Amino acid sequence: MLAILSDVHGNLEALTAVLADAKAQGATSVYNLGDLVGYGPDPVECVELAMGWDVNLMGNFDHAAVHKPDGFGVNAEQSILWTTERLRAAGDRLLNWLGELPRTHATGDFLLVHGSARNPTNEYVFPEDVHNQPKLNRIGERIKRFCFCGHTHVPGVFVQADEGNWEYSERTGHGQLWRIDGRKTIVNVGSVGQPRDGEWRACYTLVFGWDVTFRRIEYDVGTTIRKIHDDPDLPDFLGDRLREGR
Ligand SMILES: [Fe+2]
Repeated sequence: MLAILSDVHGNLEALTAVLADAKAQGATSVYNLGDLVGYGPDPVECVELAMGWDVNLMGNFDHAAVHKPDGFGVNAEQSILWTTERLRAAGDRLLNWLGELPRTHATGDFLLVHGSARNPTNEYVFPEDVHNQPKLNRIGERIKRFCFCGHTHVPGVFVQADEGNWEYSERTGHGQLWRIDGRKTIVNVGSVGQPRDGEWRACYTLVFGWDVTFRRIEYDVGTTIRKIHDDPDLPDFLGDRLREGR
């Protein structure tokens, strides 16, 4: 059994709760679709944990922490600059490791990316893109069969019901299942460290055979919020949003 997760964003409390749940459920491998850092208060600890996983991809925040933020909002940019300082203070090996992460991972019929098959690091595929079929078709052309992604922090599944017609299924609840069939499929695994679907619990997926199970895991969000509020260089908003899942 495989745990596929994304968008940890330096949230150590959410990450340790998710890893404990995955282990208890029988997961033997962890695949990370990117954005380990940025926003959250514990980038060093999260990177050190990730170094032991089976697959790690580069997200847009990981890239920005290594190079420099470009085109981010004020809060995001501030947190990225803060993150780079923290990582650098912990030694070159963390930033070097982050800077060398691949942007895609392909195995058999599966493609793993952070954003989309067309632009693996930066392109968002939002639920409302179901109303933009040309976009989904162009992205779908780059997918052999199945694609797993993150980046939007909203869990759900796109499936090509028939040629040129994609459908979307929300998967925001705990324990919800998606069974992969022969159709082209894009699975968004949601976010461990900063869910934005109106639900505060950490989100990730377990994959066993053709079954993808979405898990929502309670964690000590109060501690994460306190760490952010206690640091004068991290915007308070980044803590406040965690409780509301936005
Ligand atoms: Fe992200």
